[in-house]
Amino acid sequence: MEVQLDSSFRFHPTLPLDADHYQKCYKAFCGALICCATTSRKSLGTAIDNRLLGVGAILTDKLGRRMEGQQPPIDEPLRHLGVGSGSGRIEGHLLQVLLGTFKQIYSRVLEPSGESIASYQALVQADPSLAEGVEFDWRQQTLEAYQASDDKGRDVKFDVITSMHSIYYGGRMEDKVPYLYNLLTEGGVLLFELKSETDDLSQVQRHFLSPDIPGYRYYTAQKLQSFLDASDIKYDRVDGPRYHIDVTECFDNRSTEGALILDFLSHMRQFRKEVPVERREMFLGLLRQNARPVGDRLMLTHDTSVVTVQRTAGQEFKE
Ligand SMILES: C[S@@+](CC[C@H](N)C(=O)[O-])C[C@H]1O[C@@H](n2cnc3c(N)ncnc32)[C@H](O)[C@@H]1O
Repeated sequence: MEVQLDSSFRFHPTLPLDADHYQKCYKAFCGALICCATTSRKSLGTAIDNRLLGVGAILTDKLGRRMEGQQPPIDEPLRHLGVGSGSGRIEGHLLQVLLGTFKQIYSRVLEPSGESIASYQALVQADPSLAEGVEFDWRQQTLEAYQASDDKGRDVKFDVITSMHSIYYGGRMEDKVPYLYNLLTEGGVLLFELKSETDDLSQVQRHFLSPDIPGYRYYTAQKLQSFLDASDIKYDRVDGPRYHIDVTECFDNRSTEGALILDFLSHMRQFRKEVPVERREMFLGLLRQNARPVGDRLMLTHDTSVVTVQRTAGQEFKE
């Protein structure tokens, strides 16, 4: 039965205001992700490879086609901008894929969390191919701060811009997407990874979160596509492999891991302590209703999509 909640039930997400706690919750969430391609728990590295399987190929293909006929195409560094790169677990893999085609990459990393940047730097140091092939330019700031300080920056263009699960944070997509599109070189590619509307987590979050409430805006691939359609911007969408989120611990009040996962799923800091009991129970009720038992665990499906936009020669996205 479809549950209709009054909009007064909506959360005003507090988790992103606490960067340290946010990182712990995101780590716990990633630990609860299981790739459905197998019944056993997969390592995060393997899961990332699966998730990126098509994405690297799409980028290389699009950029390769763009560069056909240009001289010399491959020897110039490919310019990449990462938006909300986190600890680089996803982006680092993507850059490795691109290094298969492009010998040198310049990567400007926009990430507000100093702890995440330090983890990303450690990842690079441990990986000679990234350390040698990519010139990193670390910027500890939000996209909005970058945009505000971007006086001459509009002349500085990028061949690839990636925003992997970061579109929810900060400003509205209606402001960010045109800005990022206009930062692309002609034929450059903008890549968003975000939740699909089909996943169980979306079925829970859409009652409590909204695109109009800052902190964590409830966006899905469909919402982004509607915006691009309305703006007459072409795009491609690829659906990633299905994941499960193991939410069993969320229902055990003694579980610290469960508390962190709950904070991430709701984007409410200290969900168990700080969210009023009525809303808490509503949220947990919907979580249970959408979850299904797999053995002795409770799982939500988690579907993500990748939406890519390639800049058309001469086209400006009206900001
Ligand atoms: C869900 S995590 C995704 C991290 C990484 N891209 C990944 O896929 O693993 C969202 C990231 O966006 C960053 N972030 C939050 N607000 C941001 C903003 N306004 N501009 C840019 N990045 C932001 C967070 O610090 C966090 O690292």
